[in-house]
Amino acid sequence: MLMQRVAVLGAGRVGLSLGLMLKSRGYEVVGACCRRVENTERACRLLGCPEASRLEFVPVADVVIISTPDHAIASVAAELRAAGCFRPGQLVMHTSGARTSADLAPAAASGALTLSFHPLQTFPRCETVSLEGVLVVGEGEGPALAAGQALARVLGARWQSLRPGAKPLYHAAAVMTCNYLVVLLDVALHLMAAAGFAEEPARAALEPLVRSTLESVVHLGPAAALTGPVARGEVETIATHLRCLDPQDRNLYSVLGVRAVELARSRGLSEQDACRLRALFEEVTHETVQRP
Ligand SMILES: NC(=O)c1ccc[n+]([C@@H]2O[C@H](COP(=O)([O-])OP(=O)(O)OC[C@H]3O[C@@H](n4cnc5c(N)ncnc54)[C@H](OP(=O)(O)O)[C@@H]3O)[C@@H](O)[C@H]2O)c1
Repeated sequence: MLMQRVAVLGAGRVGLSLGLMLKSRGYEVVGACCRRVENTERACRLLGCPEASRLEFVPVADVVIISTPDHAIASVAAELRAAGCFRPGQLVMHTSGARTSADLAPAAASGALTLSFHPLQTFPRCETVSLEGVLVVGEGEGPALAAGQALARVLGARWQSLRPGAKPLYHAAAVMTCNYLVVLLDVALHLMAAAGFAEEPARAALEPLVRSTLESVVHLGPAAALTGPVARGEVETIATHLRCLDPQDRNLYSVLGVRAVELARSRGLSEQDACRLRALFEEVTHETVQRP
């Protein structure tokens, strides 16, 4: 079956990006909508589709993408089912990393194939136009997985299927990698600012460090990539850092420090240094837990 007509419900960062990618690969976007009228107008303009009711365009679509926030997926699917919009042979998918295809049960009840189709990529804007080489993680029944894999191939993406119970862990890993890296860099930039660096030069200064660290982790693995005072067992340096940080950053530094000690042990940190470092970090984390 050749699937060519696409509907996008929730044409935000991911939905609009996927719609644009599929359009550029010959798919016809038959309709798109957002919650706010002005966003729907913009999405339809960019995707080259008429502004129409979702009750009109969903029934004619071969691929229905529900890319609303996670909490709205099930209710959007239920509303469309109640209006008789789904049909056998349609592929109905959402793009959530954490939710499973079970959220699309109303579409499955109408005979549609249902799939969770999660691109392991960040979409900070609505104009991400390539998934070339990016992993898409799919979850659903066999025929839906086959259709999802074919769609991923069209987008130049790689594909892996996952069992439903594994999705929360997998998504927590994605959040750690992407969102919490952003948070760590934000903390680092605040420390750079306190040390006297202006914001733009600080971002530029951190860039080579971030890139080479990432490269080391990818090519050598985390243990071999770990450098710095924990890896070298420099207890005094760590104590100096802890003294100059405010309580919140000191706690974050120490929670991560405990994990860094474990990593450093696996690559040869002596048991004596590991104990001294762990004691420093745990003193901070226990203090934080006990604070009222
Ligand atoms: N952003 C990422 O990096 C990323 C990566 C992978 C997967 N995802 C997943 O992709 C999905 C969408 O995330 P996003 O970041 O693209 O969110 P987003 O930019 O906030 O877009 C959500 C879209 O859904 C619309 N919407 C909200 N409720 C709706 C409803 N009841 N009916 C129709 N449209 C509705 C919003 O309209 P308004 O704008 O008018 O409110 C908006 O256009 C989520 O499941 C998320 O977990 C996100």
